[in-house]
Amino acid sequence: MILSIESSCDDSSIAITKIDTKDVLFHKKISQELEHSKYGGVVPELAARLHAKALPDILSSTKEFFPHLKAIAVTTHPGLSVTLLEGVMMAKALSISLKLPLISVNHLYGHIYSLFIEREEVFPMTVLLVSGGHTEVIDAKGFDDFRVIAKSMDDSFGESFDKVAKMLGLGYPGGPIIEELAREGDEKRFDFTVPLQNSPKLAFSYSGLKNQVRLAIAELGEKISDQDRADIAASFQRVAVEHLLHKLRRVFKEREIRDFAIVGGASANLYLREKIKTLTDKYSTNLHLAELKYCSDNAVMIGRYGVEAYKRGRFTTHCELIAKPKSE
Ligand code: KG4
Ligand code: ZN
Repeated sequence: MILSIESSCDDSSIAITKIDTKDVLFHKKISQELEHSKYGGVVPELAARLHAKALPDILSSTKEFFPHLKAIAVTTHPGLSVTLLEGVMMAKALSISLKLPLISVNHLYGHIYSLFIEREEVFPMTVLLVSGGHTEVIDAKGFDDFRVIAKSMDDSFGESFDKVAKMLGLGYPGGPIIEELAREGDEKRFDFTVPLQNSPKLAFSYSGLKNQVRLAIAELGEKISDQDRADIAASFQRVAVEHLLHKLRRVFKEREIRDFAIVGGASANLYLREKIKTLTDKYSTNLHLAELKYCSDNAVMIGRYGVEAYKRGRFTTHCELIAKPKSE
């Protein structure tokens, strides 16, 4: 079995995965959303302190598995340096005391492996990763053979939902809040411009759209109503998703894609899922989605990647296993 640890942002999570069957034998996650909600975003120092309490609490429920463990997998990058450190320190302590090898896991690769939890891998696949930190289209050819073909030049898709929710005074995380509110709104009321519409660049940008929303809110001023908020949420979501679709249409036109997937916390958005499904249907492409509970950050996806790394003997020494905030 593999014990996996995730602490790259505001979720403390530990899982146990059986190597031969890929079965998930244990999973627990403690989210810190409530604690960060009043600040409208994640406060790294606070997040690190909460991990320092939550991770040992979760670990105490996994002791029965200790004699069966073969390796410890842990998210080392990308993420918040102070929160990554909490997981990395726990992984090293376990590795020393239980005499087990360490597996360093790229969090983004973990999101891709959320598709294969208790399933076999499917490669090659083109993957849209939409999370709080990233918006990327990835050409996934095989284990560890991932090439980014498009990415955001500024804010990410998920982050823009968080910021719009914050501007509307609605709390954190903004994604689910905006998606829910958008159901009550008129998505055509605000005619926000789709970013990079006339640009040949295969890239994403959300800072301009965020600014358009800011100006619309400012124009409404003090008299902003609940209906105004819902209309802004719906119009923003329509344009945010249309931007992804506009660039993806080009990717589909230029390549033959048999298998396509959406992963990351924002892949839980049902409006986005529906729009992408229409696109993949048009090209007779298979659409792969992770189970909703595995879209946001979790240690199960880290463990699933860990199983593949273990089979290939991809271990990391104690000296090399460090928290690296930025992606490589
Ligand atoms: O993957 P994730 O859990 O953490 C990172 O690796 O960043 O993604 C969290 C992000 C947040 O920005 C959150 O607002 C967004 O995913 N998100 C959503 C939805 N659910 C979560 N964005 C849009 N619609 C949603 N339903
Ligand atoms: Zn994530």
